[in-house]
Amino acid sequence: MRYRDFGRSGWKTSEIGFGAWAIGGSSWGPQRDQESLEALARALDLGVTFIDTAQGYGNGHSEQLVGRTLRERKLRVGGGPVRILTKIPPQAGPWPASPYDECAERYPASYLRERIERSLRDLGAETLDVVLLHLWSRRWNSNPEALHVLRDLKKEGKVQLVGISNSEFDEHAVCEPLSAGLLDAVETVYNIFNQNPSAELLPLAARHGVAIVARSPLDEGALSGKLTEKTEFAEGDVRRTYFQGSRLKKTVERVEAIRKTVEELSGGAEKDLASVALRFALRTPGVTVVIPGIRSVRQAEANAAASDAPPLSDELYEELKKLFWYRNFWFD
Ligand SMILES: NC(=O)c1ccc[n+]([C@@H]2O[C@H](COP(=O)([O-])OP(=O)(O)OC[C@H]3O[C@@H](n4cnc5c(N)ncnc54)[C@H](OP(=O)(O)O)[C@@H]3O)[C@@H](O)[C@H]2O)c1
Repeated sequence: MRYRDFGRSGWKTSEIGFGAWAIGGSSWGPQRDQESLEALARALDLGVTFIDTAQGYGNGHSEQLVGRTLRERKLRVGGGPVRILTKIPPQAGPWPASPYDECAERYPASYLRERIERSLRDLGAETLDVVLLHLWSRRWNSNPEALHVLRDLKKEGKVQLVGISNSEFDEHAVCEPLSAGLLDAVETVYNIFNQNPSAELLPLAARHGVAIVARSPLDEGALSGKLTEKTEFAEGDVRRTYFQGSRLKKTVERVEAIRKTVEELSGGAEKDLASVALRFALRTPGVTVVIPGIRSVRQAEANAAASDAPPLSDELYEELKKLFWYRNFWFD
């Protein structure tokens, strides 16, 4: 496992992190806790020192499993060798935010403070390593009260680092508070299809020493190459929506184009498409840590191994850059 500077924090974190959404058990179809705990343990054995969770992942369940795993290994939860990022959802309302929502209405100070206490409890931590707002709206840039509350909590020692998880509808909406020095970290979608953050967010973050956490690096599993037009997702799996209608077919076609490119340019040497997808994100300037979703020991092993593999060749990286896809009504 290789390690990188986590922005300007002074921390070193593994370049592959553990995406802990599916282990929350609420959004990715059936998931057994035993399998989740084994996956977490295996990832830690393999040198993973960064875990991405959220209050919303199983209503605290993902955080609880993460805290339990660290405690069972006698590791400090918060401020320890394994850094945990968690996210706070807004108060009830539209997601993404409506263009008229106000920051202080969706994230009132007292609510944020209660939510911080909740994560401390669910993780079993005395301090939280990284806390992000799980929702942001461009409208809030002119009055980002919630970020000031988070910064107060940082001064109080409840939280070490703060930031925003951006929306895939408007990735660059966080650039203004980032430039204003209000953010330590940003979580953004980043994968071979969605390279949009490279236009502004990633170079800006690199200049400001802001850590970038790259989520959905496998495009919900599609970039591993294992989906077919006939793939059916379990009841309760968000991918029933994500790949609904003609999206699955179009995605599979695009993945096939990637597979061909990889095969041609590597002479057949690159056989693991998921590894290529992770190493694509890892090679992108500005990216700090790539967090594939992991729900089994096998996935922990396969994804951790991407850090040990050689970086993608310049030629392959440049060709994959050309395969970006604005997945959108007009450009499908
Ligand atoms: N801030 C946010 O709003 C937000 C949104 C999305 C994600 N995230 C974070 O980012 C993490 C990763 O994103 P994601 O879960 O959306 O998508 P992803 O990493 O692109 O895909 C994850 C899924 O792909 C499959 N997979 C994982 N490794 C694989 C491998 N080596 N080979 C084949 N299949 C593999 C697994 O599902 P199956 O085994 O079921 O196929 C896994 O759940 C999440 O866990 C979460 O921590 C945050």
